[in-house]
Amino acid sequence: MTQPRIMILATGGTIAGSAGSALGRGYRAGQLGIDELVSAARELGLVADLSGEEIAAVGSQDIGWGEWQALYAAITRAIADPAVAGVIVTHGTDTAEETAWLLDLTLPAGKPVVLVGAMRPADAVGSDGMRNFANAVRVAGDTGAHGRGVMVVMGDAVFAASDVRKAATSNIDAFKGFPRGPLGLVSPASLDWFAPAAKAGEQARFTWPEALPRVEILYAHADMDAQPVASALAIGAVGLVLAGLGQGNASAPVLDALQSASRDGVPVVRASRVDEGYVDRNVEVDDDARGFVAARSFNPQKARILLQLLIAGGVTGPAAMQAAFDRR
Ligand code: SIN
Repeated sequence: MTQPRIMILATGGTIAGSAGSALGRGYRAGQLGIDELVSAARELGLVADLSGEEIAAVGSQDIGWGEWQALYAAITRAIADPAVAGVIVTHGTDTAEETAWLLDLTLPAGKPVVLVGAMRPADAVGSDGMRNFANAVRVAGDTGAHGRGVMVVMGDAVFAASDVRKAATSNIDAFKGFPRGPLGLVSPASLDWFAPAAKAGEQARFTWPEALPRVEILYAHADMDAQPVASALAIGAVGLVLAGLGQGNASAPVLDALQSASRDGVPVVRASRVDEGYVDRNVEVDDDARGFVAARSFNPQKARILLQLLIAGGVTGPAAMQAAFDRR
């Protein structure tokens, strides 16, 4: 039986983390090298031809432009190779949704690209890393995974990059989808897709940018004045995302300062600090009058990535930006 060839790109995170003891509490992310990970995976007897490349060995709090550029280049090379069936990126869980969403917006929805991580380090009792990894191998080698865009596999579920978010700090069932739940359920022995591939044949929405512009997220809270808006602009932000209250709201001074920024050509996207739910236009805040964009289903960190790509791509004006946020 021919085994699907899968390229593993390692970046670190808890899946490669070590506590030095099965019962330890503290641990360090990104300690296991790609060779150790691939050979541990081979020992499971997975039906796949695995090869690996180390892009980084960091906790995902330290993932940024350099790692993203290297990942994009390595994935582009891998998917252009006719022998490669799919790509797995091992990644810390903290910013996996941002990396997944950036790649989803900049890669064609062809061969599967699957991010996977772990909530418990590799040497912890009950570690979820190898199970998640075996699940990711099953997804990346599955012909039914084509045309679904970038995915995240965690906790026996497969999520689309556009929907996935980390919703718990330590449970192994930490990932959720919004507005859609998982695309399918997976185990090392089975894979069930809930619907046909929704993005079959889609090309990348954005070309890979030469740089990502500075976009700051402002976290709204009670008793907030406009100083954070001024500070963000003073350090060179060319776009602002509000992690707003409820439906993306903020105090009057903050909304007024954001309106001035928008009038001065700095796009403002209203998202919510609430874990789940839409931020729609003109509900509590008059977006038409103030020149704002509503993040709709995207949380602040995903709204930031989309806004960065829009600015880098030369898209201007709230109407064109709103159309990009309306699209899923
Ligand atoms: C990280 O994001 O690198 C640390 C946490 C994790 O991987 O779960």
